[in-house]
Amino acid sequence: MRIRIKELLKNPDLGKEFEISGWVRTKRGNKNIAFIALNDGSTIHNIQVVLNMADFEEEIIRKVTTGSCIKVEGVLAASPGKEQPVELHGSRLHVYGTADPDHYPLQKKGHSLEFLREIAHLRPRTNTFGAVLRIRHAMSFAIHKYFNDRGFYYLHTPIITASDCEGAGEMFRVTTLDLKNPPLLEDGSVDFGEDFFGRETSLTVSGQLEGELAALALSNIYTFGPTFRAENSNTPRHLAEFWMIEPEMAFYDIHDNMDLAEDFLGYLIRYAMEHCSDDLKFLNNMYDRDLMGRLEFTLNNKYERITYSRAVEVLIQSGEKFEYPVSWGVDLQTEHERYLVERHYRKPVMVTDYPKDIKAFYMKQNDDGKTVRGLDVLFPKIGEIIGGSQREEDYHKLRRRIQELSLPEKDLWWYLETRRFGTAPHSGFGLGFERLLLFVTGLGNIRDVIPFPRFPKNANF
Ligand code: 4AD
Ligand code: MG
Repeated sequence: MRIRIKELLKNPDLGKEFEISGWVRTKRGNKNIAFIALNDGSTIHNIQVVLNMADFEEEIIRKVTTGSCIKVEGVLAASPGKEQPVELHGSRLHVYGTADPDHYPLQKKGHSLEFLREIAHLRPRTNTFGAVLRIRHAMSFAIHKYFNDRGFYYLHTPIITASDCEGAGEMFRVTTLDLKNPPLLEDGSVDFGEDFFGRETSLTVSGQLEGELAALALSNIYTFGPTFRAENSNTPRHLAEFWMIEPEMAFYDIHDNMDLAEDFLGYLIRYAMEHCSDDLKFLNNMYDRDLMGRLEFTLNNKYERITYSRAVEVLIQSGEKFEYPVSWGVDLQTEHERYLVERHYRKPVMVTDYPKDIKAFYMKQNDDGKTVRGLDVLFPKIGEIIGGSQREEDYHKLRRRIQELSLPEKDLWWYLETRRFGTAPHSGFGLGFERLLLFVTGLGNIRDVIPFPRFPKNANF
């Protein structure tokens, strides 16, 4: 029976026979002996396989090259080398798949992340992406565990929708109409009544609106699924398809919301440090010597809580020359967010009470008539990692806001009805899963923390 390399290395049972399978990272040696570094993805660590050339056909050993896939049976032994404590002395060898050295692209170590993006079908076989994918898994699992342990229900919200939650108009259309010859209305516009759903539909930008419906019945829910934004942002922090975690809680005000956000982020970072330490150590040494320090930094400091107005004051008084100048009413840019976190407060920052004109229609309106109870959580290196708010639960105020913004009220009738029937104060937020992974892995580009990134002019693989 095959054993995963992680298990084999965890409790090495010297002198016993094992069967392992995996992909060859390197092979070296001489005419008497071959040393193979084998990896099966269960851990960042390879196992060294030692083959006595006299025991094998030369032909089969020649097929074992970087990238090939093999099965080895042999005895586990203490290794005389300093690099590894144990090694497997192979007695049987099977080659599942060869990898022609003239064509296999991952021959040497140290390929650039940009190059690896072009071979996203093979990059899971590198140490870096193995680490990223294992951490991605661990964080997904931790998210479900966190909420399940606290009585939140996992809600599946639709991917295809007719509503634009964030109201930013950055949606990908979903249609089965013939683009060359669409049915037209009398005024020449496309007749979406003829389309598959009988109306205009798009990919969702957020599961929040449907999440609210369930929270106003189950009290505490969360979503965790893909979301889509057709914003033409070619930045290291934006994807066109990304995953978002959106908890939504009845009877939570903005302060409860902040407490949850801080506790949740702390839990996830602690979970990564406890369960992914080998992978984190590798990333720390390869890419970002400050990674561990930065993770600790967020755990050891209580987040600063300030209003948007205070943030603007701090930024103006800083005397700093920002690329985008700051004044009350403008949206904060990453450079501003990072200044607040990294230079001014030196801890994660939660900003609330944003001008209503730069935030979405659903946020609870403050009595000043100018601001809404929005919440952004700002992290070092990342800037905004969470966006959320207390929601407007007052039917009349919400309806007025929808009208002010000229949003299609008739399409939001179901959302408004929750405020007519048994409305309740409630709050929630969205954590960008890849922003979290950027932070936890210390990598610099969001395209490197998702298996197959989608961004402007790229939908390969
Ligand atoms: O701030 P956003 O737009 O908020 C919402 O979508 C709310 N409906 C959430 C809620 O209250 N339930 O997005 C939330 C988070 C951001 O803070 C960011 O981490 C991430 O989603 N995000 C993106 N991540 C990658 N690529 C993009 N294009 C992103 N846009 C937002
Ligand atoms: Mg936001």
